[in-house]
This record gives sequence, structure tokens and C-alpha cells, in this order.
Amino acid sequence: MPHPILIAPAWPYAQGPRHIGHAAGFGVPADILARYHRLAGHPVLMVSGTDEHGTPITVAADREGITPKAIADRYSRVIADDLRRLGMSYDCFTRTTTPNHQQVVQDVFRTLLDRGFITRRTTLGAFSASTGQTLPDRYIEGICPHCGHPGARGDQCETCGRQLDPTDLIEPRSRIDGQPPVFRDTEHFFLDLPRFAGRLRPWIEAQTRWRANVRSFSLNLVDELQPRAITRDIEWGVPIPLPEFEGRSDKRIYVWFDAVIGYLSASVEWAAASGDPEAWRGFWQNPDARHYYVMAKDNIVFHTIIWPSMLLGYGSGGRVGGGAGRPPLELPDDIVSSEFLTMESRKFSSSRGVGLYVGDVLDRYDPDPLRYYLCAAGPESQDTDFTWAEFVRRTNDELVATWGNLVSRTVSLAHRHFGQVPPRGEPTAADRVVEAAVAAGYERVGDLIAAAHLKAALTEAMALAAQVNQYLGEQEPWRLAASDRPRAATILNVALTCVDNLKVLLAPFLPFSSEALHQQLGHAGVLTGQPRFAEHADGDGRGHAVLTGDYAAAVGSWAWHPLAAGQPIAAPRPLFRKLDPAVVDQELERMAATGS
Ligand code: MF3
Ligand code: ZN
Repeated sequence: MPHPILIAPAWPYAQGPRHIGHAAGFGVPADILARYHRLAGHPVLMVSGTDEHGTPITVAADREGITPKAIADRYSRVIADDLRRLGMSYDCFTRTTTPNHQQVVQDVFRTLLDRGFITRRTTLGAFSASTGQTLPDRYIEGICPHCGHPGARGDQCETCGRQLDPTDLIEPRSRIDGQPPVFRDTEHFFLDLPRFAGRLRPWIEAQTRWRANVRSFSLNLVDELQPRAITRDIEWGVPIPLPEFEGRSDKRIYVWFDAVIGYLSASVEWAAASGDPEAWRGFWQNPDARHYYVMAKDNIVFHTIIWPSMLLGYGSGGRVGGGAGRPPLELPDDIVSSEFLTMESRKFSSSRGVGLYVGDVLDRYDPDPLRYYLCAAGPESQDTDFTWAEFVRRTNDELVATWGNLVSRTVSLAHRHFGQVPPRGEPTAADRVVEAAVAAGYERVGDLIAAAHLKAALTEAMALAAQVNQYLGEQEPWRLAASDRPRAATILNVALTCVDNLKVLLAPFLPFSSEALHQQLGHAGVLTGQPRFAEHADGDGRGHAVLTGDYAAAVGSWAWHPLAAGQPIAAPRPLFRKLDPAVVDQELERMAATGS
């Protein structure tokens, strides 16, 4: 039965281009889920955007002597274009600097404040000893009070994953000038997280689908929840929606509080642009909907504790949610969190210049081999290392040797000897076996994807391609083309039918090559569709660019289908390029030259 699916990939920060670690964390896994669920006939909404507030943006702006908005404009565009080239089929990939987002954030803030879930408190704020300016949490470093790690940051300890405040750090110092910060009284708003512990605990306990580490990590956090500051002394961010803050530019809503609300605001934006402003409710105020959140592991707490608390507090909503009589907003169902990706044994780091930007890879390589690598060898369940040697090996020995080879053999034989899909005679046992295996793949691969076991799902689909390859090798249709043409026709009909179905099974992973194959096999229409840029209105004649797509018009469907005999088969064009092993040294030299 079709049911609405919300896919919520984490919002990339817009202070620079994103690297392939991000593509592995929130990118490729989310798109596999979205494309599969659309093929399976469910209404899918995949929303995200660039995360444009917070101190990383202001620091980047100061460095260049331009405004934070100028930085955000520049990199939002770069990031969105890279994600488009990667084939991320967002329904709405927007930005956190839109008027719509600001309104929804302010509505959530007001509603939580009115219901007593947000309180005010005076605390010690950190200020730079040399300039007197606010020191952002992330720019303060010290010893973690929980695990003793010396490089903990003022917002979070990356070693033990705990949430921190700068005042928690032992021996704090500024990462900008190395001086200890000066702490002064400042008033802030706090999300009263302990009020939600009683509801969070049984809810998390019931999430048997979450990976075990996500569940136990989150349960541990519930035990020690503290009120969490959700405003900052900073000029750049969503204004606090209270009369006394009007016209003031010294305090703003904290970037993480605003960013998670983006999932909701982007859904509202999508609905407005679709012509049915209420359409978002079918995903958010509908107990039949299933919500997947996709991210790297450093984002877990925001998606299993903080955002769920905000959702619980908001309930059926304030102005946006629609108030009484509406069902409450849905909580997350699946937390698809990945581990970390390293780059040739080193941690990705923008500040240290270690990285590989998505756009740079796509300038030199096709998107499908990158998607394949990140799914087959990515950090789904353990930290993994990206190496060029492995990228070349996986591309050549798996993608090209198995799937590419099967397609080119089958299509070129059919094209050469028949010019079209040949008719089939009575199938043999071997014909039935291979077709039954591929047919059974729909349920096997589909169930694995729905459960977010993406690597296993891809392995299963590739094993089927190998099986069809083996079938072809055993049946040797090329030897029968002259002596037993009807049998050769049947074999090629069976092989082409399997290839045409594997095209669907692999489409969530390899959307570009599946689309190309769809055309080679003479089909009309688009198989799954690709994202494109569009403009959404902000009012006042202004607007902003979004990534979106007309995926509903696609013809693909997640079910075994025969292939009509007589359909013309075009001359084969290779789906993938075999990579020259020299690529490895070239790329390693390039890394050395660019300092990464
Ligand atoms: N910008 C954050 C990061 O890159 C992720 C934000 S996810 C959201 O780590 F849910 F808050 F939007
Ligand atoms: Zn720690």
C-alpha cells in the first residue's frame, strides 16, 4: 500500500564547497532511498537545503571582507550545483535564508515559548580577550569534562559525542587567537530539554529499526539532558520574534535550532510552489507517513533528541501547523546515520585543506562510479577510507567488468543480429531460473533499501548482474546466431529482459547509466528523472533558486516486466568508462600539489 515517505537529508553548511565525505553521509544514501520509494509507487518528498547561518559563515565572510549573505549566496549555488550533478533528486533543495524559513522558525520559537518549553536565563557568555567580540562556541577549544579529550570544542566533543557549552571546557582558549576567552553575563533563551525526557525515553526505546549504536547513544543522552541555549550573541541568524528584540542585531536564534526546522519549512515551501499549499500536511500530519533522516554520525543528537523535542513541544502546531484539530507533527522514523569517511587515511578538514570536493571529482569522473563507490565502499556502518586505488578497482573490476560488460554484450549481440528485441520461443529451465532470480530481486533489493541496508542491497543487485552474465556465457548465443537462430533469439530475449529489469533494480544507485540504458533499449519516457534548478518566489518580486524535479512523470516502476519483442535496439554505447590505472598516481600527485 502506498504511503507517504519523507526523506530528510542533513543540510550542508554553506561556508565552502562540500567534499565527498558529505556526499557519502547525507547525499548518496538519501537519494537511493528517495529513488527506490518513488519507483515503488510511494509519494516521496525529499527536502533539504543549504545551512547558511552560524559562525562558520561569519568567519569566512570576515576573512574575505564581505557579508555573510555574500558567502552564503556563493556557496549555496556551488553546493546545489554539485548536488545536481551528483543526481540528488530533491523535491525541494532550498536555503535557510529565505523569508519562508524565517517565518516558520519564528513560529516554532513563539509556539514553544508560549507553551513554556523555552525559558530565559542569564549565563556566562564567551568573548574574545583581544577584540571584545563574541566568541562562537565552535571557536573555543579545551579539555572535555566528560572524557578528558584535549581538543574538545565549545559546542560538542567529537571524541565522546557529548553536547557541551563553552563554560564546560577545562582550560578553554580561543582557536582564533589562542587566548583564554573572557566570560561575561548575557541573557539567552533555552530549550527546556529535561521536560521532554519522559516522552523521549519510551519513544527511543521503541525504535527497534534504528541501528543499535544510534539507539543506545541517544538513550544515554536522555539521562543527562540539560536546558540548551538556543540563542547566541551574534548578528547573523534568524531574529528573535519578540517586540523587545525588534531592531536589535546583537542576538539571534542559534543556527542548529533554525536548521532542523528547515525540514518543515522546506516542505511548506515545496507545497506552496506545487500549487497546493496544504500538501505538506500529508507528510507531516499523517501517522501513515514514514520519515527517514539521513546524516553523518556527528549529527545524531540533533535528530534523535533536539528536533524530536521541538516537534513534541510544537505538537499540532502554532500558526503554520494549523492549531487545534490537526494531528501533531510526525517524529522521525528512521535515523540513517553513517560513520566517517577519511581521504587516503586522513581526516577531511576544510581548515587543513584535506579534502576532495564533490565538484572536482565530477569534473573528472562520471557521477555513477562515484555513487557506486560511496555506496559499495562507503562508511555505512564503519569508518572507511576513500582511496583512488580502490575507486579505480571498483569502477573497473565491478562496475565495468560485471554490469557494463553484461549490458554491452547483450545489447551489441541483439543489435548486430536482430536490430531489435528478438522474439522468444519456449523457454528452457535455465531461462526460467535466471528470470526468476532477477524477478525475486525486486523484493530482496527493495526490502534491503527500505531498511537502509544500502550496501547489502547494491551487493544483491550486482550479484544478479553477475548471474545473468554467467547465464549468457553458458548459453553462448553468439555461437547459435547462424545455426539455431530461434534459440539465439530466445536467449537474447531472456538476457535483454533481465538487463531491462536490472536497469530498474540499479536505478536508485546508478540513475544516470540506468537512464541511458533505458533509451538504448528503445523505451519512451524518462526512467526516474533528474533534478533541475527552478526559481521559487519570496514575495516582493524576489526569489531564490531551488533544486527540484518532475519525478512523478517518470515511467519506471519497481516490478518485473517483460520486454516487447520488436522494440528497436540502438547500437550500444558504453555505460561506463574504464579508468586508466595511471589515474591513481595522477590524483595522488594532485593531492600533494594542492597541499591536501
Ligand atoms: N549543517 C550541519 C552539518 O553540516 C547539518 C545540519 S542538518 C539540519 O553538520 F538538520 F540541522 F539541518
Ligand atoms: Zn568528550
